[in-house]
Amino acid sequence: MSNQDMSDRDWWRQAVVYQVYPRSFADHDGDGVGDLPGITSRVGYLKALGVDAIWLSPFYPSALADGGYDVDDYRDVDPLLGTLADFDAMVAALHDAGIKLIIDIVPNHTSNRHRWFREALAAAPGSPARERYHFRDGTGPDGSEPPSDWPSMFGGPAWHRVPDGQWYLHLFAPEQPDLNWDNPEVREDFLTTLRFWSDRGVDGFRIDVAHALTKDMSDPLPSAPDLPDQQQPLVGDHPIWDRDDAQEVFRGWRKVFDEYDPPRTAVAEAWCHPSRRARYAQPESLGQAFNFDLLQADWDASTFRTVITRNLEASEESGSSSTWVLSNHDVVRHASRYGLPIGPNGSGAPAQLGQDGRGWVNSDGTTPQLDPELGLQRARAASLLLLALPGSAYLFQGEELGLHEVADLPHDALQDPTYERSGHQQKGRDGCRVPIPWNREGSSFGFGTGGAHLPQPRWFASVSVQAEQDDPSSTLSLYRAAIAVRARLQGEESLTWVDSAPNLLHFTRPGGWHCLTNLGAAPVDLPDGEVMVTSGPLRDGLLPQDTTAWVVTRR
Ligand code: NOJ
Repeated sequence: MSNQDMSDRDWWRQAVVYQVYPRSFADHDGDGVGDLPGITSRVGYLKALGVDAIWLSPFYPSALADGGYDVDDYRDVDPLLGTLADFDAMVAALHDAGIKLIIDIVPNHTSNRHRWFREALAAAPGSPARERYHFRDGTGPDGSEPPSDWPSMFGGPAWHRVPDGQWYLHLFAPEQPDLNWDNPEVREDFLTTLRFWSDRGVDGFRIDVAHALTKDMSDPLPSAPDLPDQQQPLVGDHPIWDRDDAQEVFRGWRKVFDEYDPPRTAVAEAWCHPSRRARYAQPESLGQAFNFDLLQADWDASTFRTVITRNLEASEESGSSSTWVLSNHDVVRHASRYGLPIGPNGSGAPAQLGQDGRGWVNSDGTTPQLDPELGLQRARAASLLLLALPGSAYLFQGEELGLHEVADLPHDALQDPTYERSGHQQKGRDGCRVPIPWNREGSSFGFGTGGAHLPQPRWFASVSVQAEQDDPSSTLSLYRAAIAVRARLQGEESLTWVDSAPNLLHFTRPGGWHCLTNLGAAPVDLPDGEVMVTSGPLRDGLLPQDTTAWVVTRR
């Protein structure tokens, strides 16, 4: 078991962090929606899995316009999910099991039901209540055109008009009005929130959309086509994204984190150019930042190697440790992605049909054809590789079962705002958020005693925890074994590449720990030593294609 010493201030540097999407994890009261007592009831499972921490996606009161990332009250629990007392009980159970808790903080926007936004709507244009958000007059003869042509991330315009004629900014859904981070009251209130949860025993925070907090809203607002491309390295003065002045906010947060012992940690969700990520990860800022490069990479040896090398260099630059992610609640599960033909970076297939899987989901899982066995084999190999890398491994609930994306969710069941806002062109992210199958049978495969808020497919029976837990060849057994062995082998945060065969990713970690992933057709020799874990069977002692092995050559 790797569950760590609770007082270690560096616990996060190489932690295995398991993301819990609370409404889809475990439903204690049988209403079809997962809840905090459900999580508490599954702490034994998390302990047996061996994770060091969980990252809990938003559990705050919310109308669920965006899966809980539309927060009504930052210092309470959604009644559907429980109470503050349930939260405290969950923290106690996790800590008793040696598991830390990281919670999601959503500072870029509140929900439209938040007290501040209701006050803003009731107040007049120009009032202090409106100054907490980005309200302004429209353009055109009678102000009936939005203040700018900026698009929202979920499709459609980023501005919404209120009855008195003003418009407010929402980079995401209209139910998610953007906060004005130039407003001192907004800044102060988030410090109160960070202390509120830290005082309740929370160990760290995952910061949603950290790269959009501060904005330059001075006139004239530039037109969307004139804005610098976000994918390029920006210089810190883009009106919306990845501005340098966001770091002032995070330096203030760091002071709050350091009021605690051990200091509270934070990880930034910052979709910025890799060259800019170090800013968020510096010790005087949030301390760590997500790197989504592996998650975006096709199953290709040279792409993986480049991503790994670049990110280890970047973590040296920031003084932080690297983060690694293959799946989360926003992307198509990696077991499915890797079973699709290689897309834009590989064979030249049309972008929407490539390995991001979105086009495939939009076709209800019909086009292109998924090879589910191949996808799972590669996913297991990729996960074992990820767990050998220096830095923190972030896992998404259900990937330890080898779950595939549920691509054929009926359209009338979809909850993701992307679906409506894209005019039903994009099915969105619900396919990875389908409630976890715990048992082979039952009205919701043991998720709860009632139904499930997103329909579960019949094939969930065979990938349930119950079906996998005693099967040594299951993906669950692989994750359990790998996490336990990782805890024993983990040492310094360094990695050395070994060039031994084409399409082979082979590196060593201190202590003689070798990790080999074979992406080529020809089986390869393993180094002499003890084979600790493999993601699939060896063939005559050789490592077959799409398989990873850990070998220890000396201790
Ligand atoms: C990033 C979150 O991961 C995603 O689920 C959410 O929709 C957006 N931020 C907006 O909060």
